[in-house]
Amino acid sequence: MNILLLGSGGREHALAWKLASSTLTDRLFCAPGNAGIAQEAECVALDITDHAAVIAFCKANTIDFVVVGPEGPLVAGVVDDLEAAGLKTFGPTKSAARLEGSKGFTKDLCRANAIPTAAYERFTSAEPAKAYVRRQGMPIVIKADGLAAGKGVVIPEGMPEAEAAIDMMFGGGLGQAGAEVVIEEFLVGEEASFFALCDGETAIPLASAQDHKRVGEGDTGPNTGGMGAYSPAPVMTPEMTARTMNEIVVPTLRAMKAMGAPFKGVLFAGLMITKEGPKLIEYNVRFGDPETQVLMLRLMSDFLPALIASRDGQLKSFDLRWYPDAALTVVMAAKGYPGDYERGSAIEGLEEAAQVQGVEIFHAGTKAVGGRITANGGRVLNVSAQGKSVSEAQTRAYQAIDRIRWPKGFCRRDIGWQAVKRETSAG
Ligand SMILES: Nc1ncnc2c1ncn2[C@@H]1O[C@H](COP(=O)(O)OP(=O)(O)O)[C@@H](O)[C@H]1O
Ligand SMILES: [Mg+2]
Repeated sequence: MNILLLGSGGREHALAWKLASSTLTDRLFCAPGNAGIAQEAECVALDITDHAAVIAFCKANTIDFVVVGPEGPLVAGVVDDLEAAGLKTFGPTKSAARLEGSKGFTKDLCRANAIPTAAYERFTSAEPAKAYVRRQGMPIVIKADGLAAGKGVVIPEGMPEAEAAIDMMFGGGLGQAGAEVVIEEFLVGEEASFFALCDGETAIPLASAQDHKRVGEGDTGPNTGGMGAYSPAPVMTPEMTARTMNEIVVPTLRAMKAMGAPFKGVLFAGLMITKEGPKLIEYNVRFGDPETQVLMLRLMSDFLPALIASRDGQLKSFDLRWYPDAALTVVMAAKGYPGDYERGSAIEGLEEAAQVQGVEIFHAGTKAVGGRITANGGRVLNVSAQGKSVSEAQTRAYQAIDRIRWPKGFCRRDIGWQAVKRETSAG
């Protein structure tokens, strides 16, 4: 089969690495890709927001199956357009992608189906929103309804910050994404990411992961797209996994099907594991980044047949096998990220780094310039490793990082600290 993967980050590099190893794959293309993905796939300079251009490429290159990485094209209906053109595509339709595209939509779905989530109200103007915050008091969580690239959630320290956030959102600070606002109860617990592959009716759990969102060590400083992740997440015990499937994922699939928007693709539940059990923070309708990098390292089975079964509605009798090993990934970012940073600095030592046992280096934002790898984004590399434990995977990842020569880059040195602490105290 000829496969086209859409996207250009570390998530797509990990997916390309896995798809390239499938026995079903003849040619693998990636649009637009990056310098690391180019080692696994033929990169094509396509504008993936131009659905007609994607369709034309698929027809010209007899593409049999398309895999969509990022949420933007999914929420914009790329699956609907490709399928209408006769192209088999992995991922949710536009109406199913509302689970990520509108936080208010998801909250209402939870309320209507008794899915555990934070108490909330939806607002379309500033004054009632502020009055609600005043009544509820702190702590509270203020969220823009639409896609905001990780910038749409504010947990204010006090009323002035809450009012400023509400005014920013309704004032157009986040564009259309802030035209509606959800205000919700602050949940206490440990966060986990949970992934399930869905075919509209059946869901099969993939694996759990935990990520580190803050830029600084000890989980401090501004939020980022993610500075590292590891899998499995120790809080996701078999009991928590079963409860998450039964109380959150399965009722969501049932509700989506009942409203004529069956969900196909990967459902990524952001969870808070509270004293009462798992509660849904939000849904994403695609693979997590950087969680996918660790998931792909742990996956033993060929992944492509599973993605095809998701699209075809055939997951019922499907089974995926996983290595018992843990995996961990450390993000190397350009100095300054998540604020301003430079592009174009050279990165050396990647080959020596990749020789550390169990290590796989995925590129998140790189460009090859005259035979050298250069930084071409905020998050640039995902240095990933397998190990018998999270501690071993962590040691290997940092051994590899110590072989990389990139003075303009940085990383956190404590990725996986909670799991390592648990492992150390367990003996
Ligand atoms: N109700 C809540 N209680 C406590 N923390 C929350 C709550 N909602 C969101 N958060 C925190 O804010 C982060 C971002 O919120 P999320 O809904 O996942 O939005 P997005 O990923 O789209 O920015 C979460 O990972 C979590 O740390
Ligand atoms: Mg989130």
